[in-house]
Amino acid sequence: MQILLARHAGFCFGVKRAVKIAEESGAKYSKVNTLGDIIHNPQVVNQLKLKGVVPVSSVSECLDNPVIIRSHGVTRDSYKELQARDIEIIDATCPFVRKAQEHVRYADKNDYQVYIYGDAEHPEVRSLCSFATNKKAVVISSAEEIINPFHKSALISQTTKDLKGFKQVTCRLVEECRELLVFNTICTATEVRQHHTVELAKTVDVMLIIGGKHSSNTRMLAKLSASYAVTHHIETAEELKREWFVQESKIGISAGASTPDDIIVEIYNKLIDWFGDLSKTDNVTDIPVH
Ligand code: F3S
Repeated sequence: MQILLARHAGFCFGVKRAVKIAEESGAKYSKVNTLGDIIHNPQVVNQLKLKGVVPVSSVSECLDNPVIIRSHGVTRDSYKELQARDIEIIDATCPFVRKAQEHVRYADKNDYQVYIYGDAEHPEVRSLCSFATNKKAVVISSAEEIINPFHKSALISQTTKDLKGFKQVTCRLVEECRELLVFNTICTATEVRQHHTVELAKTVDVMLIIGGKHSSNTRMLAKLSASYAVTHHIETAEELKREWFVQESKIGISAGASTPDDIIVEIYNKLIDWFGDLSKTDNVTDIPVH
């Protein structure tokens, strides 16, 4: 049995920052709300609830508590509603998401038709779309969805999407548009995690991808990994099944950008409990480096 951990896995800069802001706010105020889950990891969200950081699904549920804006951002309307109600805003939007919002605003203001490469239902994409106020932004999840694009267009990506798909969409638009603005807003944390996951998956029998089932970047890691190795996407150690492995298995572990280290370590330790102390072998990499 060998266990190899992806060199870059787990919390990214933006998520670490948002969780820190949430913890500090929980300590400062008796109760704070987040508009939606602060990050896509139910275990972290539950731990924060115990510290007084409680998610609500809309501004109307906020009462008068300060409100933390999650790392994925919220819509312009949500900002306006909070301001209109004079609710204190603690903005934990990831700076990279903020940059993507600014690109949308700029392109829309300068009369480009905005295309967003992403998942239409993802909170970040809903937020990005809301920053196009002249022409409604068009969300696309693949190059095939682009039919008769506008001649003056701008392309912006959801930060957690894959570069390969983004390039395909870009090529398709280049063929059709006379004027095209392309902002590569795919976050390097996403790219790096995807690259290291694929490289690891190529060398092992079984991959464990750890992270929220609703986390877009974790699901993308699982999808990419599945092309190279048997892959299981799990949130916690409780979901591990011993029958997934044999004594000779080579196991790879990677984790989404919203997965805390303690969950990764718990899963790692459970494998050690089952299959022996692998730290005595040369086959174990370090606990994730960010
Ligand atoms: Fe921000 Fe990139 Fe993480 S956009 S939230 S640092 S995946």
